[in-house]
Amino acid sequence: MPTQLNQVPEALQSDFDIVGDSGFFADPQQLFLDSLVKDPRDIVYTPHNGGHWLITSHELAREVLSNAELFGSFPIGIPANMEQRPRLIPLESDANEHRRYRRLLLPIFEPTAVARLQTGAEALAAEVLDEVLPTGEFDFLWKVAKPISMGLFVRQLGLEPERLDEFYAWETGFYRAPTMEERIACGEKIGGYLFEVVTQHVDHPKDDIVDMLLNVDVEGEKLSLEEVHAICYLLFLASIDTVATMLSFIIRHLARDSALFNSLKADRSKIADSVDEFMRMHAFINLNRICEQDTEFHGVQFRAGDNIVIPSFVTDRDERTFADPDTFNPDRSKKERNQHHAFGAGAHKCIGLHVAKMEVRVVLEAFFDRVASLELVSEDAVTGHGGTTMGLDTIPVKVVLG
Ligand code: HEM
Repeated sequence: MPTQLNQVPEALQSDFDIVGDSGFFADPQQLFLDSLVKDPRDIVYTPHNGGHWLITSHELAREVLSNAELFGSFPIGIPANMEQRPRLIPLESDANEHRRYRRLLLPIFEPTAVARLQTGAEALAAEVLDEVLPTGEFDFLWKVAKPISMGLFVRQLGLEPERLDEFYAWETGFYRAPTMEERIACGEKIGGYLFEVVTQHVDHPKDDIVDMLLNVDVEGEKLSLEEVHAICYLLFLASIDTVATMLSFIIRHLARDSALFNSLKADRSKIADSVDEFMRMHAFINLNRICEQDTEFHGVQFRAGDNIVIPSFVTDRDERTFADPDTFNPDRSKKERNQHHAFGAGAHKCIGLHVAKMEVRVVLEAFFDRVASLELVSEDAVTGHGGTTMGLDTIPVKVVLG
């Protein structure tokens, strides 16, 4: 029986609502800074969203993420979606299966394979920016970030680009529809559609990631049709919106810091190193793990079935791990720079991180090639949301070309 609020010592109780707090609408990052980052406690329990723990210390979060046996990854979500089917592969698979999947998937996501995707990313970034930037004022999320990142995603999976709006609605509904029934219905739409896509690929190969998955052969080991389907399901959820979300936080950062904008524009060689620092400062996934058995964790009693939530934005602002964490510093030591939780940590660390970093770098480079100055139309016009993946919903900007 998972923990109930009345079993939690008062000193560990919190009223934080990671999905519904109205502060997320105004600014998700500011809400985290004002609430959880400032909270000196490393572990708290909130009764909202099915009741869950929140871990805000970077070191303790890493301990949880590194212990897949005690802190399992099924089911993912806040609240945890117990009805989720099929299991997301590899994210929700157990330790032995997971090692097999990572071995089979690694060749598809390794840096050399990702380099082959770069030409397509550069071409789409140029096409979108050349169309949108001359208008001078636009919503960066909807006009630039989503068309580029979702456009690349549909090409990589061989999906129909004209259905992008529908895909986005399914993904948003999966994570954030008001009721669990609606979330499950969205999951079923994604699963049903991807099943058709995978089946069609069997008869009509398309030279994309689905094909690569169908043809995986590592020392004679292959993936079944059902496994390819479940992997595509996770890729859909893991990548349709993530790069766009990251880009929108980075552009807001640059619009607020013209000195940084100018220095990166003047010296493009700094962009690659800056990408990880941007990732650290704008981590947006609220990771979760399910406690597999009753256990005492740093003096706190966790029970089997407890949902343990790790807000990566908060752990990545932990000053015990990152010196001066609220300052953008691309010159951090390599060790410090690479230990952020934007891509998670431990066995399930994002397998698509090289794809994500390449896409972010390509869009930033293309943006700096074309834009002389950038500002927000107004701070108040930027809105956002909380949940399993927090993000911005609108970010109107003004640019001057040059
Ligand atoms: C900025 C963009 C991205 C961010 C911030 C991000 C973040 C994450 C995080 C935090 C996890 C770990 C989840 C957990 O442990 O519960 C993860 C896992 C994963 N991501 Fe990403 N991701 C991004 C882009 C992508 C892309 C573009 C792809 C695919 C092309 C991808 C594929 C995956 C997969 C397959 C997993 C599961 C890995 C496993 O369980 O072993 N991600 N991602």
